[in-house]
Amino acid sequence: MLFKTVLVILLYVSGVLGQNGWRVTYTPETICGLKGSSVDMRCSYLYPKSHTVQKTFWFIHQNPIPELDDLSLDPEYSDRVEYLGNKKNNCTFRINQLRESDREAYHFRFLTNREDSRYTGRPGLTLEVTALRVIMYPDTVTEGQSVTLTCSTTCTLTGLPAFTWYRDRSPLSFTTQTHQLTASSEDGGRYSCAVKGYGHLPSPAVALTVNYPPQGTTVSFSGEIVEGSSVTLTCSSDANPPVNRYTWLKGNRTVSSATGGPEASYTIKHITRQDSGEYYCEAGNWIGTHRSPPKLLDVQYSPKNTSVSVSPSGEIVEGISVTLTCSSDANPPVQNYTWFKEKRAVSSRRKSGLNHTITNILSQESGQYYCEVQNQVGTQNSTTETINVQYPPKNTSVSVSPSGEIVEGSSVTLTCSSDANPPVQNYTWFKKNETGVWQAGSGQSLTLSNFRSWNSGHYYCVSENKHGPQNSTALLATVQGGQIVAVAAAVGVGAIVALVFLGVVWVSRRRKSTNVTVHTEGDREGNKGPIYSNVSGTPMSHTETLCTDRGNGEVPLYSSVQPSNTHNQVELLYSTVCCPQSEDEVQYASVQFLPSGAGPRPPASTVTEDCVLYSTVRKHQT
Ligand SMILES: *[C@@H]1O[C@H](CO)[C@@H](O)[C@H](O)[C@H]1NC(C)=O
Ligand SMILES: *[C@@H]1O[C@H](CO)[C@@H](O)[C@H](O)[C@H]1NC(C)=O
Ligand SMILES: *[C@@H]1O[C@H](CO)[C@@H](O)[C@H](O)[C@H]1NC(C)=O
Ligand SMILES: *[C@@H]1O[C@H](CO)[C@@H](O)[C@H](O)[C@H]1NC(C)=O
Ligand SMILES: *[C@@H]1O[C@H](CO)[C@@H](O)[C@H](O)[C@H]1NC(C)=O
Repeated sequence: MLFKTVLVILLYVSGVLGQNGWRVTYTPETICGLKGSSVDMRCSYLYPKSHTVQKTFWFIHQNPIPELDDLSLDPEYSDRVEYLGNKKNNCTFRINQLRESDREAYHFRFLTNREDSRYTGRPGLTLEVTALRVIMYPDTVTEGQSVTLTCSTTCTLTGLPAFTWYRDRSPLSFTTQTHQLTASSEDGGRYSCAVKGYGHLPSPAVALTVNYPPQGTTVSFSGEIVEGSSVTLTCSSDANPPVNRYTWLKGNRTVSSATGGPEASYTIKHITRQDSGEYYCEAGNWIGTHRSPPKLLDVQYSPKNTSVSVSPSGEIVEGISVTLTCSSDANPPVQNYTWFKEKRAVSSRRKSGLNHTITNILSQESGQYYCEVQNQVGTQNSTTETINVQYPPKNTSVSVSPSGEIVEGSSVTLTCSSDANPPVQNYTWFKKNETGVWQAGSGQSLTLSNFRSWNSGHYYCVSENKHGPQNSTALLATVQGGQIVAVAAAVGVGAIVALVFLGVVWVSRRRKSTNVTVHTEGDREGNKGPIYSNVSGTPMSHTETLCTDRGNGEVPLYSSVQPSNTHNQVELLYSTVCCPQSEDEVQYASVQFLPSGAGPRPPASTVTEDCVLYSTVRKHQT
């Protein structure tokens, strides 16, 4: 400090005193200027007051001819320099667009009006000119290593300016002349620096290479992902050096390695739904590998494997509710279902038509059903499912042959026909005459050979399958004037008061009268409790056709039944009797009661079958 002060004083003293009041001062005496920029060389001068300045100029080299000294006349400088001073005391000089060749010692010289009065400010102002240069060490790194960047100059720039740094021409955040960074993948690029405020005068750029393993690996694909089409999966990844091996995986299974090349795609020609799944690609360079997130490939396909299931799965009996369910494998899921029966649509096209329900199914709804399903890709028909609606016999009727005139004593065949599903298993024939109801035979046809008047009666058949029985209308066969006359008989009653039972009354295994009480759940007139008491049994003549004699001499009895608590008189029209399982039980099959009494009877076809069903009847102990 002391030394510095002494030095300044010495200089001042030498300037003033040594030259008798003549002096030139450069502030500062050394300038470091940036190539391309401008510098102002600040300068002031002193001279004795009696003088008047006549000429001022700056020069580098002293020439024999003083006029040639003036830099403003030098073709190297003339258009780049400005004298900013005056002819009094200010000698500031500016050089624009500094060149490295401008490195010189510059001097100010002035002349006054007195002869030989001239003065040069020595030793002059030293101008340094520097270009900028990026020094990078090292210039190739692996991610994570550190790099030092220096914006190098050959002299210390006057004013210690801040710096601006650029990577690939974009300004960076740091402003120091030297900067250390820990390299990441984004740090790779071309670096340059500039003096702050002189962005237009940057250094040449220097490249930093940052090597890093693959990152940001992703799978993409284009095109429609529909079965049969070709799909190309593309893997993209950022790595330095570039990825040199790709591995394609579906789930955890490697499906393709594209080793050793920059090939980043995987093509599946004729894609199928088995190709659906999550795909990955794994990209690698010598530094490492990186696996992409999964990419779902959802292959769309038209409906497949379309089938119909029927609920309930067992036999379908008329009257129940049946649901047909259509199932199909489709992607996207089935949009519309249409139901067909024998190629005719039975439902409209509906999104929710997965089920087709037939409540209270009828026999005519038997047939072959299928569904047609549709999604955005296509349609498919299911396999057909046959619905076979079963039902008890219907439309049971009796026909007679031969037709036309039949002579008494010839043979007559009655045929029972009935519509049933499954077909009728048993036909049973009955005959009713004044004496009673008799089983006349079994089988679909009944042949009455040598037909005589005692064969006369109402003939009818009962057809039966596993779903139940049905009685036919009756046929009245009589002998009139030596001819057999068979007409549809009016054995029915008015529908209004018909009281009809189905069942069999077993009365007694013993050949004697037995009283039985028949319990019902209530008859048609709302009465509860027994409606028949005091059933008097009468031995039947045809018991052997009704049940099998078990060898103990006991056969069931047929009874005539009188109602105990009804107002209507009824007569037993027919019955079927079956053998008892024990002494105390009666089993019913089919008993029909009709009101007795004269008066016209309605035609047989109007017989109404109101039924009361019994299971077990216990007899009174006598
Ligand atoms: C000399 O002139 C320059 C340019 O006009 C100016 O910037 C500077 O301040 C002056 N110096 C003095 C000491 O007046
Ligand atoms: C069709 O579906 C059935 C039942 O879902 C299945 O067992 C069968 O494997 C499927 N067939 C095809 C070809 O997909
Ligand atoms: C379709 O029918 C099945 C079987 O009857 C039943 O389980 C299912 O809930 C029904 N689905 C619809 C949508 O009605
Ligand atoms: C009964 O049979 C007749 C003649 O075959 C037919 O016209 C009628 O439709 C049938 N009735 C029923 C209920 O099946
Ligand atoms: C009624 O039919 C039965 C059995 O065929 C017969 O034995 C009886 O003689 C018939 N009665 C009359 C009055 O014809």
